[in-house]
Order: sequence, then C-alpha cells, then structure tokens
Amino acid sequence: MEKNIAVIKGDGIGPEIVSEAMKVLDKIAEKFGHRFNYEQLLMGGCSIDVNGVPLTDETIARCKASDAVLMGSIGGNTTTSPWYKLPADKRPEAGLLGLRKALGLFANLRPCVLYKQLSEACPLKKEIAEKGFDMLIMRELTGGLYFGKRYTEEVNGIMTAVDTLEYNENEIRRIAKKAFDVAMQRRKKVTSVDKANVLDSSRLWRKVVDEVAKDYPEVTLEHMLVDNSAMQLVKDPAQFDVMVTENMFGDILSDEASMITGSIGMLASASMNETSFGLYEPSGGSAPDIAGQNKANPIATILSAAMMLRYSFKMDKEADAVEKAINDVLEAGYRTGDIMSEGMTLVTCSEMGDKIVSYI
Ligand code: IPM
Ligand code: MG
Repeated sequence: MEKNIAVIKGDGIGPEIVSEAMKVLDKIAEKFGHRFNYEQLLMGGCSIDVNGVPLTDETIARCKASDAVLMGSIGGNTTTSPWYKLPADKRPEAGLLGLRKALGLFANLRPCVLYKQLSEACPLKKEIAEKGFDMLIMRELTGGLYFGKRYTEEVNGIMTAVDTLEYNENEIRRIAKKAFDVAMQRRKKVTSVDKANVLDSSRLWRKVVDEVAKDYPEVTLEHMLVDNSAMQLVKDPAQFDVMVTENMFGDILSDEASMITGSIGMLASASMNETSFGLYEPSGGSAPDIAGQNKANPIATILSAAMMLRYSFKMDKEADAVEKAINDVLEAGYRTGDIMSEGMTLVTCSEMGDKIVSYI
C-alpha cells in the first residue's frame, strides 16, 4: 500500500523522536512492501519563527489532504521562551488546539500499559506494580474547558478571568460511543469520569453516557468522580479498562496514568475524527530541557506510529511487529534515561530507534 503521511516534527525533542519513528516506519515499509511518503509541515513554535503564527491554513490543508498525521511535540519553556510573550492565541499550544479543532479530532485515545520489564521504573508500591495494568484513556478533545468562551476583564476595578466548561449532548454521545466501541475490543468495561456532584456539564455527561450504554449490554459501565479517579489510579490501576472523560480531566489523568507506566516517554496517543483519519503523537511535551541532546525516549512516538498503522491504515500485522520489537528491546535490557534502572543498558534516543528497527 502507498500512504501519504503529514509529519509535524515540532519543537524541543519533537524532531529527535519523530525521526526515530520515521526510521521504524521505513523499516516496516521495506519489510511488508509498502510505501510511505512524508510531507514535513510546520506547527507550533517553529511555525511562529517562520510564519509569525503557530498554525497556517496551508498546514491545515496539507494535513487534511494526507492519510494521517504523525506529530512530535510543540511548545517551549513557558518562562524563558519568547513565544510566551505573545498573546495567548498566537502561542505554540494555540496551534495544536486549532489543528485538533480544524481536523475534527474529538477522540483522543491514550493507552497506558505497564510493561512487566518496566515495573522497576513504576513509582507505585511493589505489590501494585507487580499486578501490572493495561488501560485506555478516551479523552474528549475538541470541547469542554479547552474550547469554551474565555476572557479576562476588569469588573469594578478587579481583574477577573473566565473559562467556560460547555458540552452539548451530541459531543458527549459521540465520545461515549467511541469509548464503548473500544471497550468491546478489550475487556468490556467503561469507567466514565466526571464531577457530577458539582458540575451541570457532568450531570448531562452522566445522563448521555447512561443512554449510550443501553446499546452495549455486554459492557459494564461505572461512573466515577474525577477526584476519586485520581486516587484510584495510584491505589489500584488494574481495575480500569477504558476510562472516558472530559477534555481537561483527561489531560490531567493521562499525565498521572503515564507516570505510573514508568515514564511519560512511554505514552502514545491517537486523536481521531469520525473516520479512520487520525493525528498520532506522544502524550508528553516538548521537554525543552533535554532538547537536542539525543536523550529523549522515542518509544511513545514509535508506539503512536504503530497506532497509526493499526487505526488509520488497517495494518494490524505491521503494528504488531512494531509493538513486539519494542517489547523485545525492553526485554533485552535497553533503556533511555527516563526508564533506566540498575543492571540495564543506557542508550540514546537514536540508539533506541536503531535497536527497535533491528528487532523488526
Ligand atoms: C496534551 C498536552 C496539550 C493539551 C497541551 C500542549 C496544549 O498537554 O496533549 O496533553 O493540554 O492537550
Ligand atoms: Mg497534557
């Protein structure tokens, strides 16, 4: 098969980790007889430097014309980078949010798996880490607090800032359906996370999720408050299969979930619209502190590329091959700094990519 992939390397460690994922994709193409054409596009800080804005219509159009988008990370140091002297809607993150919205990527899938080889890197107690876990966070990505009305104004001489958490029933229904569909392919359990004891948006969320659940009698549904969910994630992560939640709750809980897998450098993500089109990026940030040092962990990006093969290109065998190679490399004891533990072999970002290629 021939596929056109839009590539946004982005800022910070983005270029390093995406280059490793491209190496892996090239190896897959060679081994399975495919052809992947890449088109590199700018978005985020690097686009500000060249175009004056974080996202151009050109980048949006080229992404739309592609079969899938592979992305690294965007943004810089929020206290020192000149990008953060710009108004909020001209900063790198505004580019990412604009792209998610423009491409209609409402469903963000973040699988969190504790690899048995990495139980040493898991900060949880041994009894909990030993049980392992394999869950998927289905984060709503184009609504809620991220996209509600926001403004800052002076009210009676007092500076006042407002952000709005708004959802309509259609937005809730489509993400709930995605969660139940994915649960049907997994262990058939959905945990819907909200704050229904306080928020109206959460009470509507709960009602709509209950309605959608009626179409999936095989799936067990539970509702959990977001504060309790944060606690349960560190107490007993093995209880979760699919967790579905609002944009901001999902942002926070997915960072927590990533940390208990050993490192945010292990967490892949796929952002999908109603079709099989998707944008694939690691869940972590641009890590400006280690950018350009060949130290970053490329595994989350490589796992994201595997999700692209599986969900957008329907290449299951190829995705399995990538995931197995990662498993084999971890089994053989190779580790980047973030997941390093005693007795293992420390490798650089590019060496990790080479190792994974060699195991495919
Ligand atoms: C993520 C990131 C982004 C988000 C930032 C960079 C805007 O934290 O993908 O989780 O909050 O969605
Ligand atoms: Mg985040």
